[in-house]
Amino acid sequence: MSIHFGVDYYPEHWPRERWETDAQLMKEMGIQVVRMAEFSWFQMEPQEGVFRFQWLEEAVNLLDQYGIKTILGTPTAAPPAWIIEKNPEIQPIDREGRRRYFGGRHHCCQSNQTYRGHIRRFVTAMSEKFADNPGVIGWQIDNELGNSHTDLCMCNSCRLYFQKWLLKKYGTIARLNSAWGTAFWSQGYNKFSQVRTPLITAAGENPSAMLDWKCFCSDLIVDFAKWQADIIREKCPNHFITHNYMCFDDKVNYYDLGELLDFVSNDVYPGHWQEGSHQPLYQTAAAHDVVRSYKKQPFWIMEQQSGMTGWEIMGRLPKPNQLSAWAMQSVAHGADAVVFFRWRTCAVGTEQFWHGILGHSGKPGRIYDELKHLTETFADYMDAFAGSMPKPEVAIVHNFRQNYAFQIQPHHPKLTYVKELYKYYRAFYEKKIPVDFVQDTDDLSGYKLVIAPLQFLMTPQLEQHYFDYVENGGHLVLTMRTGVKDAANRCMTERELPGRLGELCGITIPEYDCLLESTGGVLYGKKEYVIKKWCDIIELQGAKCLAEYSTGFYKQSPAITENAYGQGIAWYIGTEPDQELMEDLLSYFERCSEIATLGTAADGVEMMTRESQDQIWLFVINHTDDEQVYHLHDRYELLEGEREEFLHPFEVQLFTKQKK
Ligand code: GAL
Ligand code: ZN
Repeated sequence: MSIHFGVDYYPEHWPRERWETDAQLMKEMGIQVVRMAEFSWFQMEPQEGVFRFQWLEEAVNLLDQYGIKTILGTPTAAPPAWIIEKNPEIQPIDREGRRRYFGGRHHCCQSNQTYRGHIRRFVTAMSEKFADNPGVIGWQIDNELGNSHTDLCMCNSCRLYFQKWLLKKYGTIARLNSAWGTAFWSQGYNKFSQVRTPLITAAGENPSAMLDWKCFCSDLIVDFAKWQADIIREKCPNHFITHNYMCFDDKVNYYDLGELLDFVSNDVYPGHWQEGSHQPLYQTAAAHDVVRSYKKQPFWIMEQQSGMTGWEIMGRLPKPNQLSAWAMQSVAHGADAVVFFRWRTCAVGTEQFWHGILGHSGKPGRIYDELKHLTETFADYMDAFAGSMPKPEVAIVHNFRQNYAFQIQPHHPKLTYVKELYKYYRAFYEKKIPVDFVQDTDDLSGYKLVIAPLQFLMTPQLEQHYFDYVENGGHLVLTMRTGVKDAANRCMTERELPGRLGELCGITIPEYDCLLESTGGVLYGKKEYVIKKWCDIIELQGAKCLAEYSTGFYKQSPAITENAYGQGIAWYIGTEPDQELMEDLLSYFERCSEIATLGTAADGVEMMTRESQDQIWLFVINHTDDEQVYHLHDRYELLEGEREEFLHPFEVQLFTKQKK
């Protein structure tokens, strides 16, 4: 039997007498795995070198007797007070030069060698202890690396690490000076040791230096994780190693981190949302899809919301079956296992109100019953889904460096890279068209339509990649701010915008406008639409104009263009379309690219497929508390669910068909 449902469990928060009841209840609920100990350093090493693993071993063994396996977390996101007392210098420094102190979590510097020494001692002991325990199957390194680090750490140790990283990258200081454009504002360096971490400046920052800093921070986190992974791999060759990601979070390049891991895990809290009652569904869906892309494999959910969320302020109480719908949404997008956070709501600490499956009282109630029903219904199917993947015809290009570049220079105060990706994603999602995220170095030839928003940083290789894709019949959408900068974040000067890709798109862009505190309009077809944030003022060099501006002095000049190239088409969108234009435009691109939609239904009804060698599974999920009707565009056999083309509130239906 493989493992598909689990919980995050903290036995150390509860009396020993309770553990057996927990194990019993978990077993009855269909729980097959727990994650434990990822914040319990003090309980495992109350003083330097004094290890107390008995309680954990007892919990692992007890659960194992109930058929429940364990994933152990290394507790390195929470070094205990005695370490801090001995080595206060491991607490991180923020960009204002202030220390961040003990009392929360993530109070550690990831380059600090003294801290790494503590980790080596502890992780070695822990992995030796559990290497041969039959209850343990794998490890989660640290917890949400990059979380709680607004600026990562800017201490002296990090400064030295950064200098070393730069030396390796540039070799000579002259090369660094050229890459960073230090002729500007007298920023030249004589030697690497003069370079500092980006502590707050009197005015302004160097965009090239900042891009290197962000890439360095990501590399440092990967290096920090590797430090632990190497120990665990050596001591526990039979265990897997994973890490719990945070969707689109960007402190660490998740593609790079993924190379260390056997599989990627993710944390999802769709109900923890500031604006409105939950995260817009398309954003949760997009997050699952990007997580699947990090290793191009199915993934685990290591923390799936299992109750009301909140630290100081609380979110809405999930409605009956809403949690199940969210959990199956994870599965529909590629999760092979779902671990609920957390088993029982904490009585103490910061997360007293981040609710678990059981409430404070520990008595099983509505949510326990609901999720028990879920595991009963889907346990067998989960075995069949395992390893299968969605097979979208559409891909959206995702890249951490482009994201960093827009964090450094957003252009418009409301422009963010990930939100821009969401805007394109949403239009497909709502039409029930599955989407993959891809890296810009990936083979694109399997996709009928590729959307590459904000291709700001450009290299000759990437240009060529896009040329090749279109030349061979691909349909490519490029957007505003493409081909502006080189890989070092310097503006390119050899050609007019968008650089060599202008030939692919049949356009040049001699001027542009930022729609600061205003919006604009375009005419597309016979309709006028709202556009936001940016206008590339386009001159046609062979392309066809699809839409023209209806506002500004550049009214009537092209805003969106189409160019046939080789056997394919390159579209260029020189602005940010509002939702309506986005939908109409993408409908046109879909028609040209012959993209299939899974069906029709209201927003809030999700459709997604996973495919194995010979079978396709289709998930239809009602995320609303109303009854819904829908229509499928293909014939499938209904496996779970009451009635085809009809959904109860929050119902999840499962269909299948054989592949031809
Ligand atoms: C996650 C984290 C958990 C817990 C949870 C609820 O970000 O990994 O440890 O803090 O959020 O706040
Ligand atoms: Zn540091």
